[in-house]
Amino acid sequence: MSVGPQLHQVDVLVLGAGAAGLTAALSVPKDLSVAVLTKDPSGGSTRWAQGGVAAVIDDQDSIESHVQDTLIAGAGLCHQDVVEHVVGSARDAIDWLVEQGVAFTKSDQSFHLTREGGHSHRRILHAADATGWAIQDALDQQASATANITFYHNFIAVDLCFDRGRGPRTRRVRGCHVLNKQTGEVDTFLAHAVVLATGGASKAYVYTSNPDGASGDGIAMAWRAGCRVANLEFNQFHPTCLYHPDAKSFLISEAVRGEGGILRLPDGTRFMPGFDPRAELAPRDIVARAIDHEMKRIGADHLYLDITHREPSFIKDHFPTIYQRLIELEIDMTRQWIPVVPAAHYTCGGVLVDLHGETDLAGLYAIGEVSSTGLHGANRMASNSLLECIVYGRATAAHIAQTVKTKMPHATVNPWDASQVIDSDEDVVIAHNWAEIRRFMWDYVGIVRTDKRLQRALNRAQLLAREIEDFYANYRITTHLIELRNLVVVAELIIRCALKREESRGLHFTLDHPDLSKHPDDTILIPGKER
Ligand code: FAD
Ligand code: SIN
Repeated sequence: MSVGPQLHQVDVLVLGAGAAGLTAALSVPKDLSVAVLTKDPSGGSTRWAQGGVAAVIDDQDSIESHVQDTLIAGAGLCHQDVVEHVVGSARDAIDWLVEQGVAFTKSDQSFHLTREGGHSHRRILHAADATGWAIQDALDQQASATANITFYHNFIAVDLCFDRGRGPRTRRVRGCHVLNKQTGEVDTFLAHAVVLATGGASKAYVYTSNPDGASGDGIAMAWRAGCRVANLEFNQFHPTCLYHPDAKSFLISEAVRGEGGILRLPDGTRFMPGFDPRAELAPRDIVARAIDHEMKRIGADHLYLDITHREPSFIKDHFPTIYQRLIELEIDMTRQWIPVVPAAHYTCGGVLVDLHGETDLAGLYAIGEVSSTGLHGANRMASNSLLECIVYGRATAAHIAQTVKTKMPHATVNPWDASQVIDSDEDVVIAHNWAEIRRFMWDYVGIVRTDKRLQRALNRAQLLAREIEDFYANYRITTHLIELRNLVVVAELIIRCALKREESRGLHFTLDHPDLSKHPDDTILIPGKER
């Protein structure tokens, strides 16, 4: 028997249970009730993070150096105040993670620090090569044991509820409509603060290191609710994802290059020194573009990463997860080169927020990969993302502590209206639309762009967006339809940002505008103003 749609009333609603969402949930005052929603209990990207978390720990290292490296990798678009804030908060963030039970790898009595691209010092704390797993596991355990937090797994947020208001800052979030995947009903969650921690949008590309849920739901929801988004043209391609027909989305951590891994052509030639003096440890945009260039030049569908010169025991100790996965696929990385290709990895842009993580809609926060804080600029430096999740998760919770009090009355919102919809008989079309978006994004909005390719992509995205809105208006919603509707919105936003940036900078490289502009600025899209 159907239970019908439910109404839930909480103080704080957190959409997403990765590093960002759980940090915020665990950090709000314990007298506030918190609901944490996940659309899929298998989780987002956090669980899959390998390399680690960047922080200045070593005496020879300095905050100034971490700031400088981040600014250089960000290619002139990082916001220096944000970089200083995040990098300066890193040590506290690590202490907090350790308090939550994260066991970072140690060497003697202190943390073992590895290296990744763009970092001029060893400053990556890690739990072997499964850092994300260690963080997710510790935060899951803490949150499950915390009385004011309730998990709602298999609840997928559809759209935000908000008061439109009349002027700036009078628009306020009130809650969210959410599909309960078990009942098939659309429930309503009312909350005084809503935290978008829904992760990135790399699923917009056919080849990606991300898990399936990375469909940009939070970016699309915030955009529909009238929030500005920024810098979405900077989608990061990780240089080294495994190339293997039986392995989906498996990353070969940058730490493998940090510990001496060399990129080779099929004939064994090392090519990175010809592209950048930092060679394999240049920032990601440079390494991914070099690989793409070499693959196209010689007509190869992958290149190789070679770490066979390190001791087998070192490799197995430092990269147990990668070693094991490769052995399952009959590749022994202690003796054989690893076949690799670049793949979509990280959404550097997102929903525009302030230093508290608050968006244009009062009470609505965006933290973690869904947000655009100003930290990453035109290219995120490795291992700065998990750090950003923790720093902003805590900053958002501190702001909520000042603005939300217990027993505040909830506003009313319009209930979800499903009276006009019918069950879809178009599931196959939905699947095909997914595939089409991801393919044209790869072909036209990838590592190397042109105006013509971007315009083609925009035409296709707009056509599909109309078709998908039609499905959405007429059919009962499902997870696939919700994600497809979000994915096409985010794809269009990525393309629009890319078309606006008439220069090549960081992750955005276009043959039509190969030079740097003299006056770089963020690309900001404003709802209702983009045609
Ligand atoms: P996620 O961890 O992606 O979590 C998103 C959450 O939102 C999930 O719980 C999901 O169920 C939920 N959700 C999404 N949409 C909805 C919806 N509509 N309704 C309800 N819930 C929803 N970064 C580093 O700093 N260091 C690394 O070593 C590193 N390695 C990486 C390796 C891999 C393979 C990948 C993919 C990424 C890596 N990154 C790394 C990037 C980093 O892991 C992510 O940016 C970060 O984990 C994102 O965390 P998050 O909390 O923002 O989102
Ligand atoms: C990796 O381990 O290479 C991923 C690190 C990151 O994305 O920050």
